[in-house]
Amino acid sequence: MVFDFVDGGAEDEATVRENRRAFADVALRPRVLVDVSARPQGVRVMGQDLALPVVLGPTGLARMVHPAGEAAAAVAAELFGTVSVVSSGSSVSFEDVAAAVRVPQWFQLYPWGDRATIEALIDRARACRYRTMVVTVDVPVVGAREKDLRNGLTVPPRVDPRTAWDVLSHPRWLAGLVRSPKVTFANFAGLLPDARGTSGLAAATQGLLNPGHTWDDLAWMVAQWDGPVLLKGLMTAEDARRAVDVGCAGVAVSNHGGRQADSLPGALDALGEVVAAVGEQVDVLLDGGVRRGTDVVKALALGARACLVGRPWLYALAAGGPRGVERLLEVLRDEVDRTLALIGRPGVDTLDPSAVCVRPGRGWVPAGKPG
Ligand SMILES: Cc1cc2nc3c(=O)[nH]c(=O)nc-3n(C[C@H](O)[C@H](O)[C@H](O)COP(=O)(O)O)c2cc1C
Repeated sequence: MVFDFVDGGAEDEATVRENRRAFADVALRPRVLVDVSARPQGVRVMGQDLALPVVLGPTGLARMVHPAGEAAAAVAAELFGTVSVVSSGSSVSFEDVAAAVRVPQWFQLYPWGDRATIEALIDRARACRYRTMVVTVDVPVVGAREKDLRNGLTVPPRVDPRTAWDVLSHPRWLAGLVRSPKVTFANFAGLLPDARGTSGLAAATQGLLNPGHTWDDLAWMVAQWDGPVLLKGLMTAEDARRAVDVGCAGVAVSNHGGRQADSLPGALDALGEVVAAVGEQVDVLLDGGVRRGTDVVKALALGARACLVGRPWLYALAAGGPRGVERLLEVLRDEVDRTLALIGRPGVDTLDPSAVCVRPGRGWVPAGKPG
């Protein structure tokens, strides 16, 4: 149940597969006899210097996989000189994550509820000294994650006839679950009812979603925040231009890891048009399908400033606890480092499109005139 919650995607999971396929359709283009004795990975993203071009992306309900939850991501990110993005759907509150680290992290806003609810969340994030606000806009309604429905996943998870065998056959996980406070949307305490019924997770959030939001609402949210705003969840040049127009300092090309709309291109497929449209003006980040250092190198070569990873840090947390998340960043850092050496690029700032080649006919083009 918990593995499916993390690993799964919407409907046929075609978007999930496309995210990986897009990376497979790009290959590295190595040069030799270049002095690669130094290979710095530092990048400046959203006005902040990061020691590596990898950010731990916002994923809600992380305590579902391990009691340390989102705090583990913040601690690991701080240790490696990068940042994590704390979801507004986190299971450790904004306040508790902020208290676990010295360096301000980024926070993610789901514009759920009315303006008063959104304002209250933003005020809390400001009080916690979060630095960048990441607004996620690809959830006007909840995607159909059919595995969660079939598994009977609820928030908090419960033991009932349907989940009993699954839950009881994972005693170590269950012990962690019962020993710590209930897994809920910590930032929405009092606003969300405890999920009940078969559609648990989706039902828990559906009531607060606002499918009526437009660019005017985003402009209002940007005006509420004194720091930089990163818009997460767009896949087109048109939307990237509008994001810049309303004052966003960055955009994250993302299809929500294939958990929202199914049948979308891979995030990497959409990176090119977004970089061409706004790459000179704002930071473009890539989110979705990043599993290896080679993926990070490909995304940076195609114009991304940094990558976000979602599932990888949850897998790491599930497998190894907080130390697992540190190990993830260590592995990604080592892989980027080794790849740079092997393709003759002395540092991430030397990556450009000539570092990769693409299969002819790769990717997708709009069938009609972009609006
Ligand atoms: C379990 C889970 C929970 C997520 N929760 C959020 C969330 O609360 N806010 C958000 O903006 N994105 C959320 N995402 C999406 C991730 O931020 C990210 O876009 C996606 O996981 C990237 O794809 P990847 O998993 O292939 O790296 C979630 C993803 C997962 C797997």
